[in-house]
Amino acid sequence: MLISQLAYVGASTTDLSAWRGYGTEVLGLEVAPDSDDGLLYLRTDERHHRLGIHAGDHDDVSYVGWEVADHSTLEAAAASIERRGVTVHSGKPTELADRRVLELVYFDCPYTGVRMEIVVGHEHVFTPRFKPTRDLAGFRTAELGMGHVVLYTADVQVAAEFYRDSLGFGISDYGVIPGVGPLAAFLHCNPRHHSLAFIANDKAPRKIQHVMFETRTLDDVGLSYDLCLEREITATSLGRHNNDRTFSFYFRNPSQWMFEYGFEPRTIDPDNWTTEHYLLKPGNSWGHAGLMNMV
Ligand SMILES: [Fe+2]
Repeated sequence: MLISQLAYVGASTTDLSAWRGYGTEVLGLEVAPDSDDGLLYLRTDERHHRLGIHAGDHDDVSYVGWEVADHSTLEAAAASIERRGVTVHSGKPTELADRRVLELVYFDCPYTGVRMEIVVGHEHVFTPRFKPTRDLAGFRTAELGMGHVVLYTADVQVAAEFYRDSLGFGISDYGVIPGVGPLAAFLHCNPRHHSLAFIANDKAPRKIQHVMFETRTLDDVGLSYDLCLEREITATSLGRHNNDRTFSFYFRNPSQWMFEYGFEPRTIDPDNWTTEHYLLKPGNSWGHAGLMNMV
């Protein structure tokens, strides 16, 4: 396992001011004080930020940051990616400063088109401590990473096997449509059931489907659901997933991709995990109405 955790996600937006209000009022996240008119840093924990939202000319994910333990692990990860014929680039000093990291290399994911960054030394901020901007207990992150990111691709199995073989991700499970095949693949790099997942859709309007943050309490999911109902931005009803067992719902952001706020996903033992699969058919889980059509 070369990757330690999902460190951050960066996105581009055509409406940064909408994101500023949404980040605090809906997500309940803190705006880092060094944000400016071009870049909004949103904080969820003791990291400098977990979301970097950039003013731009389109609305989609821009990069995903994967943290490794140290310089030699970064070099091993870069070499492993290059052995598979994918070029790895060095980050520019301005990019390192922007992401608040000590080291950064990146490659363009051949299966999603998303810029994948491999980083060392993401900035921690001990004080002032993270303060949610609405009534929230906060988020479970630490060694499990910020949460998970889910991307669209044409063939989830090919994409999953690339990340397994190149970066040592474990394949937690596949969600399979009976008689059709895998619709989704879920991958882990630590005890979080999945930090990265793929959904099969080569006609999606964006590269990203959603980012999940794990709330500390069930009430945080319920309170967030009420807030999103009131604003008419829910994308699904409440429900529980049958793979990671998360109690959650999905809601749209100003860029029209989704967040998931989830409570109490199961964790796994990455050293003794065997890949599972489950069937995507009515009756195999409850809730999350709208999920199968969510793009
Ligand atoms: Fe999710």
